[in-house]
Amino acid sequence: MEATGSLPRTDIMKLFSACSRPLNVCAPMVRYSKLPFRELVRRYNCDIVYTPMILADVFASSNYARECEFSTNWLDDPVVIQFAASNGVDLANAAELAAPYVSGIDINCGCPQKWAIHEKIGSHLMSDPETVRDMIRTTKARVDVPCSIKIRIHKDLRETEEFVKRALSVGVDFITVHGRTKKQKSSEPINLDGIKLVKETSTVPVIANGDVFTKEDADELVKATGVNGTMSARGILENPALYAGHTVTPWECIETYVDLALSYGTNAFIFHHHLMYMMENVMSNAERRTFNSLTSIPSILEYLEDNYDLDISKRRRSSVLA
Ligand SMILES: Cc1cc2nc3c(=O)[nH]c(=O)nc-3n(C[C@H](O)[C@H](O)[C@H](O)COP(=O)(O)O)c2cc1C
Repeated sequence: MEATGSLPRTDIMKLFSACSRPLNVCAPMVRYSKLPFRELVRRYNCDIVYTPMILADVFASSNYARECEFSTNWLDDPVVIQFAASNGVDLANAAELAAPYVSGIDINCGCPQKWAIHEKIGSHLMSDPETVRDMIRTTKARVDVPCSIKIRIHKDLRETEEFVKRALSVGVDFITVHGRTKKQKSSEPINLDGIKLVKETSTVPVIANGDVFTKEDADELVKATGVNGTMSARGILENPALYAGHTVTPWECIETYVDLALSYGTNAFIFHHHLMYMMENVMSNAERRTFNSLTSIPSILEYLEDNYDLDISKRRRSSVLA
C-alpha cells in the first residue's frame, strides 16, 4: 500500500444520494483494475472504481502483500477495495488497514473458481449467508467506511431475497448484483428479474452488473431494473471510454493508458493484456497475431510507434527501460 498518510475520501453514500443519474462503476478485475486503469476509466465518466479482489488474510498479515496489491494516491477516489474473506475477523483486520485510503470495503461473494470455493470464499458465500452477516457486522463495528457486498443470484430467487434481507439486517451499505448464478457462464444472458428482485428487496442502493458493453446497455439495464447504477467488467476492459458514450475505444484513450501505465509502473503481462483488450477491434487478424506475440514493454512500445504513430516521450521511455 503506497500512500502518504490518510487521504480525504469521497463519501460514496452521498454520491448515491446526490447524483441525479445512475452511477457508472468499473468492476473489480483481478490483475486489471489497478491504479493506472482506475485513473483511466475515471477520465471517461466512471464514478466509482473497484480494486481487484484481494485476499483479506494475506493483506492483513503481510506488508509486502499490501505494497503489491494496493497502490493508491489522492486522484484514486472514490475507490472501493474488494476483499475475499471466509470470516469476519480476517475481513475486519484487512478493512482496518485499508480504511484510511478508500471510500468503501466490498466483500466478494461471487468468485466462482474452484480454489475459491475450496477456501470458503467468493461464491461459496452465496450458500452461507450467516457468515456474510457476521463479516458485515464485524467490519462495520471496526471501521467507519461503507461496507458492501458483490453477490450473484441463486437459481431459486427466494434464496436471493432471503440472502439480501439478512445482509440488510446488519446494515450493509449497498449491494452489487451480478445477474447470473455461480454456475452460469458469462456467455449466458443475465437474469433481469433476479436483479430487479434485489433492487425491490433492498432499502440501500443497488448496482447491477452483467453484459454492460455500451452506455446504451447501461441505460437499458437501469430502465429494466430500476437500479441506482451499473457496473461493467469485460466491456470496460475492451473500451475504457464506454461510460463516456464511446462505442469503440478512442485512440486517445489507448495513448492515455500507455502514459499512465508507464508513469505509475506496470508489468509487461498486464500492460500487454490491457492493450490487447483495448485494441481488439482496431487490429486486423494479422496485426493481432504479431502484436500478441510480443513479450516486453519496449517491444510493445516500438510496435505501437511504428504502426500507430504512438508518440512516446523520451521521459516515459527512459522510465520504463530503467
Ligand atoms: C478479467 C476479469 C477479472 C475479474 N475479477 C474479479 C474480481 O476480482 N472480483 C469480482 O468480484 N469479480 C471479478 N470479475 C467478475 C466481474 O467483476 C463481473 O462480475 C463479471 O465479469 C460480469 O460482468 P461483465 O458482464 O460486465 O463482464 C472479473 C471478471 C473479469 C473478466
